[in-house]
Formats: sequence, structure tokens, C-alpha cells
Amino acid sequence: MSTSEEIVDLDPSVPADPTEVVPGELPILPLRETVLFPNSFMPLAVAREASVRLIDEAMSGSKMIGVFTQRDASVDDPQKDDLYGIGTASLVHKMFKLPDGSLRLIVQGLSRLTLEEIVQAQPYLRGRVSPALEVLDEGHRLEIDALQRNIKASFQQVVSLSPLLSDDLQTLAANIVEPGRLADFIASSLTTIAAPVKQEALEALDVRARLDALNRLLIKELEVLELGSKIQSQVQSEVGRNQREYFLREQLKAIQKELGEGDEQAKEIEELGQKIEAAGMPEAVRKEARRELDRLARMPVAAAEYTVSRTYMDWLVALPWQKRTEEIIDLPRTKDVLDEDHSGLEKAKDRILEYLAVRKLNPEVKGPILCFVGPPGVGKTSLARSVARSLGRKFVRVSLGGMRDEAEIRGHRRTYIGALPGQVIQGLRRAESRNPVFILDEIDKLGADFRGDPASALLEVLDPEQNATFRDHYLDVPFDLSEVLFITTANVLDPVPHALRDRMEVLEIPGYTEEEKLAIARDHLLEKQITNHGMTRAQLVITDEAIAAVIRGYTREAGVRNLEREISALCRKAARRRAEGDEASLMITPAVVAEMLGAPTFLDEEIEERTKDPGVAIGLAWTPAGGDVLFVEASRMQGAATLTLTGQLGDVMKESARAALSWFRAHAAAYGADPDFFKNAEIHVHVPSGAIPKDGPSAGVTIATVLASEITRRPVRGDIAMTGEVTLSGRVLPVGGIKEKVLAARRVGIREVILPRQNEKNVKEDLSEELRRDMTIHYVQTVDEVLLLALLPVPRTRTDRKTSRRVQATLQ
Ligand SMILES: Nc1ncnc2c1ncn2[C@@H]1O[C@H](COP(=O)(O)OP(=O)(O)OP(=O)(O)O)[C@@H](O)[C@H]1O
Ligand SMILES: [Mg+2]
Repeated sequence: MSTSEEIVDLDPSVPADPTEVVPGELPILPLRETVLFPNSFMPLAVAREASVRLIDEAMSGSKMIGVFTQRDASVDDPQKDDLYGIGTASLVHKMFKLPDGSLRLIVQGLSRLTLEEIVQAQPYLRGRVSPALEVLDEGHRLEIDALQRNIKASFQQVVSLSPLLSDDLQTLAANIVEPGRLADFIASSLTTIAAPVKQEALEALDVRARLDALNRLLIKELEVLELGSKIQSQVQSEVGRNQREYFLREQLKAIQKELGEGDEQAKEIEELGQKIEAAGMPEAVRKEARRELDRLARMPVAAAEYTVSRTYMDWLVALPWQKRTEEIIDLPRTKDVLDEDHSGLEKAKDRILEYLAVRKLNPEVKGPILCFVGPPGVGKTSLARSVARSLGRKFVRVSLGGMRDEAEIRGHRRTYIGALPGQVIQGLRRAESRNPVFILDEIDKLGADFRGDPASALLEVLDPEQNATFRDHYLDVPFDLSEVLFITTANVLDPVPHALRDRMEVLEIPGYTEEEKLAIARDHLLEKQITNHGMTRAQLVITDEAIAAVIRGYTREAGVRNLEREISALCRKAARRRAEGDEASLMITPAVVAEMLGAPTFLDEEIEERTKDPGVAIGLAWTPAGGDVLFVEASRMQGAATLTLTGQLGDVMKESARAALSWFRAHAAAYGADPDFFKNAEIHVHVPSGAIPKDGPSAGVTIATVLASEITRRPVRGDIAMTGEVTLSGRVLPVGGIKEKVLAARRVGIREVILPRQNEKNVKEDLSEELRRDMTIHYVQTVDEVLLLALLPVPRTRTDRKTSRRVQATLQ
């Protein structure tokens, strides 16, 4: 029997109330997997022998049969228990015989029946039946009306969404007034509902229950259909897009082929493939590169991704995975190279040679990272370059100054637009060697902000335990940095994070004396600058006196950078002369220097001018630029016992000023001053030299001296400079940076300094014999000793002051 259903117009010959004409006994036609409802037509296929016989006989009689659905469709010879208890009385309308003996018929459901019992089993079933009457509970009329309206609306939607239901059903349903019939019509129309569910609707004699069940069924059906149509439209748009892309790609390929570009891409891919094999990458990296290359080969050239992937491939193949320079650690040779490039710097050179000796004896040992610390222009960067040269290694330099973003060290992930590897990997690519000398310049100027801390990335780079598998964010494959010789430089160590400092072996390069500078200029700077300007040393001679004049009158620095700049200026002017036709060789003397560079600034004159009145003393300070002289000033006004301190002083410096004042108040009488001088005074101490912040206790003796000078009106000697911390009891304690401070004094032409006694050992260790011979150094333990050395008698006139200074000088 068939499961397909179809709606045919109702036959007008059907009796108004079919129950009246249904006899008490009927032939029973078992149905498989479908349910026939009253008031509906259904085509059926009949093949079972018993059923064919039944129809045959019915057609010759009243054409009325009872149709009952089988509980289990697989039963071939069903008995009463195999059939549902409620079925439908129906008329057989049309019948065709097919050649195989089976039948096709159209039946019309009339009314519900209850199967009471089977009265005949052969040749087909006959049963005693009774009408199953519908119950329409008028008490629930409102609810029934509402349900009916809902059902109609839902059914309209179901029909419009379902591709299997004809739109005519909407009109037909709309015209049915009677609720029970509406339910039957809809239940029989829904093709997707299983037979047992339909049977439930047939058995629901209470119309309200039937409507209610159907309502639920429709809502569920609607949800399923809506979901289905959503999926459908998604699938459609997906398919649409894929097809479109595919189509465009094909077109693009055709165009590229036409333009000969496709070949180019293929060539490019092949070349990259060869480069990958030639690069000597570690196996894991090679695999990754191959994978990326496959991706690249499948990408259209015009895609934005292609460029990204292409650039990445370029980076991968360009890195020196295997390339290295042969390292020869030949200590005498290294020493020669270092000496050749740099004068002096004996301590630093010795340390470098020791460091290299250890590496030579045990190449496995991971030594600390060298860090050159010193003021600007003392040759830190160039010394590192020289180390590279002496070892036959490549040299790269990266400046860390102002770096605030971790990504600058470690790169951006490839997902960023315009991403690149960090400076470390970039440096290695430039070096074209996996074992260069890599200088990380200005490590003290490293910053940090919300984008992550570059110092921690740097730590990973420098840590021998970790850097064999350094992973740049952009490359995303490990690169072995363990053969790189890292050297860092800094002006000061304080700002360098501790974790970094721990990894480094510090080599201090403190600054040069005038004589050392002269030697550097004579042996290196002149040669370099003269050849740079296209001349020979025969054509341009710069005398030692001229260089000394430049050092003294035109530069004031710990290093030699300005000196080099001034020498370059001299060469430039000489070159111009030659270019303008003066072919004669030129000798630059101090007089020519003055002519070429303008009038020098002579510091001794400036110093004399500044220190002529009481209340000014020369202090020595340590600065990142290598030590400097400070003119500390004090002045007393009418006021109420206040001490004002200016000049961007730090807390420690302010405290040391207070300590100095307290000490002098306690000892004022000994210096012939009124012990109550502070009562009605405001004392102002100023430490000039711009807006540079200053701190530390080492100005203590200088402040004590200016206070004593201001109160007693005794001037301070202008040819002596001092440093030292002062305690309340007037003791002088040792301070740091002795070499830089002495050099600073020497630089401005001051040859006498007052230092704490306990710093004597630093002088012996750090200052060259030459410098010590050149300077007069007074070691003191108390402020009294300082004042004895530094204060002049009260002058009566200007000349008198000069005389007293001369007298004092001869006394020394
Ligand atoms: N002892 C020296 N012998 C020869 N040349 C020197 C010496 N010291 C410095 N120089 C030269 O001085 C110039 C400046 O040196 P360099 O740039 O290395 O200084 P730096 O210490 O790195 O300074 P900064 O801290 O500003 O980076 C270079 O031309 C260098 O060759
Ligand atoms: Mg440098």
C-alpha cells in the first residue's frame, strides 16, 4: 500500500452525515504507514492478495470499506491486535488494475470507526464496527476558537515554508469552518508526520484535545522548517561565495598566464625552495619553511597575504643559519689589533684579553657578557668594533637608546600589518654570520612602557642558558644565538635593571687626561680625519701644541668626540684652502687654530672671574659625562633662620647642606664669626649648572666652605677644587668617582684638589703616575683642614686679595 497522499476535490455525492449510512459490518483494509482521515481523499496501492480480493468484491457491492492502520508495518497477515482500534469508514472511488495484478485506487475517508471485533478472517478480514463519535465541548468554545485560529495561522506559515506542500492547501484550510474537520484536514496534509502521530490525531475524539495536539505539532514543525531554511540560505551563500572566489581565481590565473606572470610565480617558488635547501636550517625550521612555501605556492600573487608570506620566506632564507666566520683566538694578534686601533685603555684591553683567553682555553664555557661603561666619546663603541676585527668576526651594532617596546627586540607577530623581526634578528641578517660581535649600545637608555618591557626580552637574548633557542615573535621558529659575542655599553650603570647587570662583566673606561687625549689625537684621530678629507699627513701637519690648544681652548669633555670634531673642522678648512688653489702643505699651529676656530674660551679666566668674591667655591662632581666642576654659591640676607637650597638638588644633597650649616654654626666662633649669625639670616645655597638634577653627599665640603666664606667674608681660592662628604661633627668621608673628578679639575686647568683621606687608595689605583705627578692632591680628614687650605684672608682691596692668594700659593 502506498504512503503518498494527495488531495482531490470532495465528491458532492457523499452523504451529509456518513455515520448514518455506515453498516455494522465492513470489509477491513489494513493500511501500512499511513492514516486515512475523514473528509479526505487518498491514493492507495494495493498488492496483498487478500486486499486485492477485498477491493474486487467491494467494488461490486457498496464500495464501502473500513480502513485501519497497522501498528507494525512489517506484519503481512494482520489480525485484530495488529491494527489500531480506531479507523475510518471510506468509499473506494476509482480503481485501476496494473498488469502485475496489483491495484491503484482512490479512497475517500468518511467518518471515524471503532473496530469491535473480527468476524471473518478469510479470504480477507471483515469486522464488526461502530461509529466513533467526535466530542465537541461547547464549554470550551473560546479556547477552541483560539486554537483554531492559531492552527490556521501556523499552517499557513508551514505551507509557505515547506517545499513539499502545495500552496492550494492554504486556501482549502482557510475555508474550513468546523474545528474537528480542520484538524483532520491539516493532520492528513502534513506529509512529514509519522503514522503513529497521525493515528493519535485520529484517535483524539475530543476536538479540543485534537486541536491542542495539532497546535503543538505545527509549532514544532514550524521551528524545524525555519531552522532548515536558515541552514539552507547559509549553505547557499557559502556555496555562492566559494563559487565566486573559485571563478575569480580561475580568471586571475588565466590573466596571469596570459601576461606570463604565473610562470614567474612558479619560478619564484622554485627559487625559494632552492634557497631553503641551501640555507642549512635546522630540520624543524626547514619543515616549517617548506610548509609556508606550500602555502605560498597555492596563493594567488595578487592576494595581500601573498606579500606577507613572501616577505616572511625572504627573512627565513636570508638568515645566517649556518654561515659563520672562522674564529681565530690568537692573543698576541688580538693585542696588536687592539693597540693599533686605540691608544691607552690598558686596563680595558687587559680585561678583554683575559676574557678571550678564557674562551680560548674553554670554548664551552659561557662567559658573562662584557659591558663597557664610561662617559661619551671614550671609545666604547669603537673598542667593541676593534674586538670584532681582532677576532675576525663580523660586527653589528644596535642602539637600545629610547627603546620602549618589547617588540623592538623581539619583533611583532606576523599577524600585525607591516610586522618585522626585532632588532636582534635584523642585526644577524645584516651581519650575515651567526657568530658576529653584537654590540648593544646604550643599554642604560632602555625604556619600558605598557607595550612590555624590552629589558626582559633582552635578558632572554643575553642569557646563555636560554639564547640557544631564542624565538623572535615574527620568525616564530627558534634561532641559536649562543655563538654571538654580545658586548653592551652604557654611560652609567644605575639605570640598568639588576637582572641584566648580573649577567654582565663591567669594564670601566673613565675618561682621558689631556696627555692621553693628545696621544689619541696624534696616533689616531689625525690620520683618520686627514685621510677622510682627502689629504695626506705630508700635506697637512697639525702640531702637538695646536692639538693641546684645541683640547684646552675648544673642548671640555671626558672623551675625545668634540676633539675629533674640532680636528675635523680644521681639516675641512685646510681642504678648502687646497681646493681653492693653495697647494702648499699647511702647518697648523696654535695661532692658526685661533684663526680657523675663532677665539678660544679660556676657563682659567672664567674661573678667576667667578671666584673673586667670597661665597663661591669649586666643587667636583661625578656625572654620566665623566665628571665636572661645579661653582657652588652661598649668600646671606636678612631673614628668619632659613636655609634655601636651589639648583635641582636631591634629598641627599640637601641633607648634606644642612649638616654643613649645622657644623659651621657650632664652630662659627673659631672662625671669628658671630655664633648667632643664623638668627636673623636667610642663607641661600645655589649649585648651578643648568637644570641638571644633582644628588649625592660629595658636595658636603664645598658647601661647608662656601658657607664659611660667606659668613666670614673670606674668599675661597679659585685654583683649588674639592670633594668629600661632611658629617655633623666635621669629619670628611670618602666619595666615589675620584678619577673622573680629578680629570675634570685637570681639564679646566685646576691642578690642586682636596680629597678625603680615605680616597687615597683610589688615587693610587686609578690615576696614572703622570697625572699624579701633575696634580697637587691634599688628603683631609676634617672640615677644618679644608677651610685651612681653601679660605683666603679677608681682602682689604682687590690687589690685596691677589697678593694674599700668591702668598698662600707659595706657602703650599
Ligand atoms: N683610546 C682611543 N684611541 C683611539 N681612538 C679613540 C679612543 N677613544 C675614543 N676614540 C675615538 O673617539 C671616537 C668616539 O668613540 P666612540 O664612538 O667609540 O665613543 P663611545 O664611548 O661609544 O661614546 P658614546 O657613549 O657616546 O657612545 C671614535 O672615533 C673613536 O675611535
Ligand atoms: Mg658609543
